[in-house]
Amino acid sequence: RAVAILQEFKDGCATPLHRLRQVVDALVVEMHAGLALEGGSKLKMILSYVDNLPTGEECGLYYALDLGGTNFRVLRVQLAGREGRILQQEYEEVSIPEALMVGSNEELFDFIAAELASFVASEGEGFHPLPGRQRELGFTFSFPVKQTSIDSGTLLKWTKGFAISETVGKDVVEELQAAMARQNLDMRVSALVNDTVGTLAGGRYWNEDVMVAVILGTGSNACYVERADAIPKWRGVLPKSGSMVINMEWGNFWSSHLPRTPVDDALDAESLNPGDQGFEKLISGMYLGDIVRRVLLKMAQEAALFGDVIPSNLLIPFILRTPDISAMHADESADLKEVTRVLKVVFKTQASLRSRKMIVDVCDTVAERAACLVAAGIVGILKKIGRDTVGNVDMARLKSILAGKGRKTVVAMDGGLYEHYPKFREYLHNTAVELLGKEVAEQVVVELSKDGSGIGAALLAASHSQYLSD
Ligand code: BG6
Ligand code: GLC
Repeated sequence: RAVAILQEFKDGCATPLHRLRQVVDALVVEMHAGLALEGGSKLKMILSYVDNLPTGEECGLYYALDLGGTNFRVLRVQLAGREGRILQQEYEEVSIPEALMVGSNEELFDFIAAELASFVASEGEGFHPLPGRQRELGFTFSFPVKQTSIDSGTLLKWTKGFAISETVGKDVVEELQAAMARQNLDMRVSALVNDTVGTLAGGRYWNEDVMVAVILGTGSNACYVERADAIPKWRGVLPKSGSMVINMEWGNFWSSHLPRTPVDDALDAESLNPGDQGFEKLISGMYLGDIVRRVLLKMAQEAALFGDVIPSNLLIPFILRTPDISAMHADESADLKEVTRVLKVVFKTQASLRSRKMIVDVCDTVAERAACLVAAGIVGILKKIGRDTVGNVDMARLKSILAGKGRKTVVAMDGGLYEHYPKFREYLHNTAVELLGKEVAEQVVVELSKDGSGIGAALLAASHSQYLSD
């Protein structure tokens, strides 16, 4: 019976190449629809108002706040232009208390403003802004925000583990500015960016071939550089650069071609945001562990996977985390020692070797589906911007190739899932090669851009500084 449950789950998760190609095409269709008009697709394709990416010329002292990943970070960067680049950077990292994620708007913003204030208060001499100037900040806020300019935007909805209804519809920069004022902190938010956009900007600072950024962490999302004339819903003056970064919010992508099982339906129904973030719930770090837990629970209830008693911890949502499944998945010992360890620590139980093998198989199925879908997502973006074939080269690209640049398309990647889950990375890379073909795949590089989004936000604060024309 356990074998049958496992097989049924595997069938439901299958991602053969033809299906992945359908996902690629569906994503491209939705990208067009989302760019055509506001509300044209579940894929929001949000304008970031970033129409110029870092050049390396940025100078000065800037700060960044990074809210929305596993940890909340505060960062200070001293930029020294093309010669010196980043002179100095300093971080502080704290995890957001869970109560604040579902508490009140004011409490959350007071908490982050207080962290920022104490970071500033504890810095040594030499970090004062020039006389008469304010400190400036890039705010990485990793949730769907309808940007109204580079330094303003209203929250459309919370995702991941956050749910504070009073923030929805509010301008998050105003909320942060008000909280900073309550802390007597004289600082101005010069750029509001999604973490994908920050990662793209941070990646571009070092490598001008970066065109796409993907986050694979607690949540998942992507952004890329789009031609301004390919954004029909853009009503403003076309930017001089001719392009704009689009925050796709791909976590909310949906297509009937996506392989979804009754286990996924149940996870969605019991989540904080039912009906939302369908793609994210199949691929991101926050959910993979819980999908595995739910399958194991079904096998325990219907096929005595752990014997006659159902371990009570198996009933606790999110108790099994994605690092746990990565650890079990990587277990190559004959008797699956690591699986034994995780079962003991997390579920306070044990299982036969046969059951442990099935548990590894569940982890493998969940990770493989996720990684293949992410590969399809990346290929969809490359297809949209014409980087999915060797022959498909537009004039601008041809010129840069002739000038010896831009031969590659670099995808800047960040997030704990990508960083800490080797088998996931392997599935992702192999599937991307299969979808693109070897020749094209050689032109595409996925580069881990660790913590790039904080630096990227500081760089965008620099390029949008209120003092630039001084
Ligand atoms: C961090 C970035 O490195 O990765 C954040 O600085 C981003 O901006 C985060 O949100 C995503 O990864 P995780 O695993 O922390 O959710
Ligand atoms: C969620 C957020 C999105 C963010 C992603 C990665 O999907 O909605 O804005 O980029 O997580 O952190």
